[in-house]
Amino acid sequence: MSHSHEKVEKNVGLMAVLIAVAVSFGGIAEIVPLMFQAEAIKPLPGVTPYPPLELAGREIYIREGCYNCHSQMVRTLRFETERYGHYSLAGESVYDRPFQWGSKRTGPDLARVGGRYSDDWHRVHLINPRDVVPESNMPGFPWLADNKVDGTLVRSKMQALKTLGDPYTQADIDGAVDAVADRTELDALVAYLQGLGKHAPRGG
Ligand code: HEC
Repeated sequence: MSHSHEKVEKNVGLMAVLIAVAVSFGGIAEIVPLMFQAEAIKPLPGVTPYPPLELAGREIYIREGCYNCHSQMVRTLRFETERYGHYSLAGESVYDRPFQWGSKRTGPDLARVGGRYSDDWHRVHLINPRDVVPESNMPGFPWLADNKVDGTLVRSKMQALKTLGDPYTQADIDGAVDAVADRTELDALVAYLQGLGKHAPRGG
């Protein structure tokens, strides 16, 4: 007795087409919900574009390659939320271009580090980590204390982000140079770190 799928099994071309159809169902099931979700992703309450000093700090974080050792994404696993706090939500990162989630963790995740230490702790730690954490193998970044933030660069970045759709007002942009006047790169990086996770939901 011949089975109806005998035709498929003996015809490689037909089988290839049918496999492609079957696999595409799996693909569609994964991709289509994401398309609709992308529309639903709104900033969490309180999440606004970075103020000038924090924006400058974020650029320094990227320039210095902090992401090579630090992720900024708490996963939805119990041991992660107990250590760091609430798991990361997409609505926290809408103004991160590019986002800094990452996965490399030579050092701890930083998504919830804001407010965990004082500004002074961060200053000492960034200049020479071993002054506060003797066993640390994080490199020091002492030059940040000597470099001044370039206000005109911050202003142009805000302008560019506005073009991309970030809701900066003209007053925000006009005020950028004054907002970072005389601030060092260390001030900016500390401001950025202290803002991380500020608007995350509380608790695990
Ligand atoms: C070579 C890897 C490496 C690089 C690069 C690095 N770190 Fe670290 N970082 C670590 C390690 C390891 C620790 C844990 C020990 C300590 O606290 O110093 C750490 C700890 C920290 C902490 C304390 C986190 C906590 O919850 O206790 C902060 C904040 C931090 N790093 C910020 C930075 C910033 C900002 C940069 C970039 C300017 C940076 N790190 C670059 C490895 C690194």
